[in-house]
Amino acid sequence: MHDRYLDAVVLERRNLSDRIAEFTLGAADGQPLPLAEAGSHLELRFGGDTGRFLRHYSVVGPLTTTAREPFWRIAVQREDRSRGSAYIHDHFRKGTPLRVSHPIGAFRLSRNLPHVLLVAGGIGITPILPMLRSLVIRRQSFSMLYAGAERSQMAYATEARGLGGDRVRIHEAVHSGMPDLDGLLAAQPAGTVAYVCGPGPMIDALRGLARARGWDDRHVRFEVFNAAHLPDDVDFDIRLRSGHVVRVGAGTTMLDALEGARVDTLSDCRRGECGLCVTDVLDAHEGIDHRDSYLTADEKASCTQVALCCSRARGAVLDLDLE
Ligand code: FES
Repeated sequence: MHDRYLDAVVLERRNLSDRIAEFTLGAADGQPLPLAEAGSHLELRFGGDTGRFLRHYSVVGPLTTTAREPFWRIAVQREDRSRGSAYIHDHFRKGTPLRVSHPIGAFRLSRNLPHVLLVAGGIGITPILPMLRSLVIRRQSFSMLYAGAERSQMAYATEARGLGGDRVRIHEAVHSGMPDLDGLLAAQPAGTVAYVCGPGPMIDALRGLARARGWDDRHVRFEVFNAAHLPDDVDFDIRLRSGHVVRVGAGTTMLDALEGARVDTLSDCRRGECGLCVTDVLDAHEGIDHRDSYLTADEKASCTQVALCCSRARGAVLDLDLE
């Protein structure tokens, strides 16, 4: 097991909605955990002694500006297609042991920006809420949109309003339809940097609209959830240069499977953003279902490289340039 993981335990479970539960995680030895930077996430390994699931969850952090918490708080939405989230909902109780990484800062909030626009869609609130808290504490200029189906299904809506007041707009699609993202962008002062987390189509829409308005691409920073798992995923094999074959189950990633087989790999974000896990493909056979946001469209079309942490084979096998 990787030593960047520490033994942790579920301290408390709290249901936030029908499908979202909050868990506070503490060190198994009772030592206080450090405050996590806004936008950071944890890797959790859980599911029996072998830790057969590996999932990433944002650290939500304290819910008020003054609280100091010696534990990490995550919120997990139960996805019917995701065995990991179902396992968490069914099995995580006070005292459940798990392994957890130290916070990973792949989605960092820059300091001293002239104005920040926060956009959260659904469970995408989890990395955005600590950013909101940080902006409030630092008295920075910001505005925020939190969109969801309806308020009863939107975790931390009350806390977001409590932190940001009327600078936080809660948008319920059931009453108001889809949010006007173009109007939102139009209302921002020049030089605004947006941080967005939510469903892929919402992020894509915001990026496209911002680009059409002449925003620099680097001014829309985003985090996508669950790029690695889709309902119709099936098993496939990776063949290494040696001819050795590693099976990738429907509910796991190439990266997890290779690590399990003790094949040397590199990784950092584990969500298709940093490019560290990108590996040369020797034969893509029926092609690759690219799910990362790191490779360019041309690179994806050529199928000569693949992000191990989230992409999958379209066929039964992929030949990779790995020992
Ligand atoms: S680990 Fe970052 S893109 Fe795969």
